[in-house]
Amino acid sequence: MVGSLSLSPMEENKDLSKLNTFGISAKAAKFVKIESVEEAQDFFANPPKEEILILGGGSNILLKNDFEGVVVYNEIKGIKVESEDSEMVMIRANAGENWHEFVMHCIEKGYAGIENLSLIPGKVGASPMQNIGAYGVEVKEVIESVEAVSTIDGSLRVFSNNECEFDYRSSIFKTRLKGKYFITSVNFRLQKTPSFKTSYGAIQEQLAKMGIAESALTIKAVSDAVIAIRQSKLPDPKEIGNSGSFFKNPIVPTAKYEELKAKHENMPAYPSADGQMKLAAGWLIEQAGWKGFREGDYGVHQKQALVLVNYGNATGEEIYYLSERIIRSVEEKFGVLLEREVNIIS
Ligand code: FAD
Ligand code: EPU
Repeated sequence: MVGSLSLSPMEENKDLSKLNTFGISAKAAKFVKIESVEEAQDFFANPPKEEILILGGGSNILLKNDFEGVVVYNEIKGIKVESEDSEMVMIRANAGENWHEFVMHCIEKGYAGIENLSLIPGKVGASPMQNIGAYGVEVKEVIESVEAVSTIDGSLRVFSNNECEFDYRSSIFKTRLKGKYFITSVNFRLQKTPSFKTSYGAIQEQLAKMGIAESALTIKAVSDAVIAIRQSKLPDPKEIGNSGSFFKNPIVPTAKYEELKAKHENMPAYPSADGQMKLAAGWLIEQAGWKGFREGDYGVHQKQALVLVNYGNATGEEIYYLSERIIRSVEEKFGVLLEREVNIIS
């Protein structure tokens, strides 16, 4: 197998400006497209000496500079039902499938579980990477296993859900094994009878606005509601460059939360799974005065302070510098250290 496949030729000096949703103008010294698991195994059996960057839809990265190594672009397509019974379906999606199109495919087939994750940009392969989440659902709830090729020797490994070490906006692929595995496919366990997750306030409001009664709820209706909320709040990368939430919502000990709550009565916060409290980074950033900030072509979105934006020709360095200033300012005002959610590529 090794050496027997014809990979698309390695490109040099590749323009990445249309391959990252921030719309940052940057180049990759080398660029290769991978279209099958076999190609991935073949390529990584003799890995390049240079640094590699695995690239999906480019919707959760900030390119600080030109990338001097090899960008490995994931284009492995295909969706297949592996098994099913009257209750559930096991469906495999290859990593190069577009995430939202996969969600739409499942909704059309009546497979429930990911409708709350509608309209998240990017590809299926990156979904386990930071355990994508929105509107009360995280993808870890429906992932059965993840298949990936070692970037060190080309061997194929299957990670069970437990082995992925999923956490809020995190997994083993973003921490201990960062850059060590090229995810090739994800196996999802979806349900044929939906259990709707509509407790996130905004969903209920939106469903009411759409005139949908609880008795008439469908996964398509939940998806439509989520799409409408997202379109009203988040900038469309086709119009304004961005990578979604730039920072994670910080998780703080209860004592810290109580100290802040005593001073800021209306501060939003939610219990986190580990018994601590999750604060809203968007609120903290807004209170620190950054919402709608703009300097040159970089800034903070007017409707969502958690989203940093590129109005045209901002550089990766400028956006990064802005994120440093925001971190410092929120720390000074609240004593809370924000952590970036976006992957910084330098
Ligand atoms: P990329 O940006 O290409 O890559 C992200 C990281 O994953 C990089 O470190 C990359 O090296 C690695 N990676 C990518 N593919 C693979 C692979 N096959 N194997 C191994 N590593 C890989 N995220 C949420 O969780 N919830 C949201 O609600 C949400 N909303 C967003 C809204 C907007 C407008 C935007 C622009 C982004 C949003 N995001 C959200 C962030 C982003 O869409 C997700 O993180 C998405 O999963 C990234 O997918 P991607 O293919 O674009 O990944
Ligand atoms: N808020 C403000 N000002 C702002 C933004 C938010 O006060 O400028 C307040 C809101 O009023 C609300 C709270 O902060 O009380 C939370 O806001 P929202 O519901 O909009 O969610 P978020 O915390 O800003 C998170 C995720 C999003 C996800 C939404 C919906 C993180 C880092 N972000 O945003 O994910 O879509 O919830 O579930 O967890 C992403 O990861 O890229 C992303 C967009």
